[in-house]
Amino acid sequence: MNRKEVIVALDFPGYRETLDFLDAFPDGEKPFVKIGMELYYAEGPSVVRELRRRGHRIFLDLKLHDIPNTVRRTMSVLSRLDVDMMNLHASGGSAMMEAALDGLTRPDGSRPLLIAVTQLTSTDARTLKDELLIDTPMEETVLRYAHNAAAHGLDGVVCSPLEAAAVKARCGDKFLTVTPGIRFADGDIGDQKRVMTPARAANAGCDCIVVGRPVTQAPDPVEAYRRCVREFAGE
Ligand code: C5P
Repeated sequence: MNRKEVIVALDFPGYRETLDFLDAFPDGEKPFVKIGMELYYAEGPSVVRELRRRGHRIFLDLKLHDIPNTVRRTMSVLSRLDVDMMNLHASGGSAMMEAALDGLTRPDGSRPLLIAVTQLTSTDARTLKDELLIDTPMEETVLRYAHNAAAHGLDGVVCSPLEAAAVKARCGDKFLTVTPGIRFADGDIGDQKRVMTPARAANAGCDCIVVGRPVTQAPDPVEAYRRCVREFAGE
């Protein structure tokens, strides 16, 4: 996978809305897309196969978190979908992460990239302390989870663009940082709290940015996608 990818979050309830969005792109332009729980649970594996058939690279964002045996077997089934990137929750622990890698690796030794969610960006300091009973400060918790993922062979983490530089410093430059929370300088923030523009995210050490509404809800989604790619490439 190239570094500096713009990944479009297909946060749609079904095929119709998804294909309406993708059909606006000309034949030769195939954005890297993210299929999350909403679309996957609505349409199942057939939507992954169809977008693959159309030539899209795919991040399957299902955030697995279960006992190691279940995660191994599930990853093994999902590996047949031939996606480019998958993820899980680092809080499932090192045995679960190792089982996931094992399940994801195909008989020929190939596998999709596997990245870990550290702490969800919707988890704030109070929830971490009062509900999850974690006294370690948020940033150190995120870095420790990232370090644990790296130490057990994962390829990177999903994190806030504001954490990307610190993750690189702790886990090494090759460890991928995949960051949502991207907004244009003149756009709506919506429900995201800590946001960055594509250009600042590139300078902050983000390898891949995940962009949803600034592209999918734009008056001209294709132009918004191209603007995002240009800004992230520093043009
Ligand atoms: O529309 P927006 O650009 O905010 O979409 C961001 C995408 O990234 C959504 O699919 C959201 O679920 C996902 N995401 C996120 N924050 C995380 C993990 C995933 O916004 N910590």
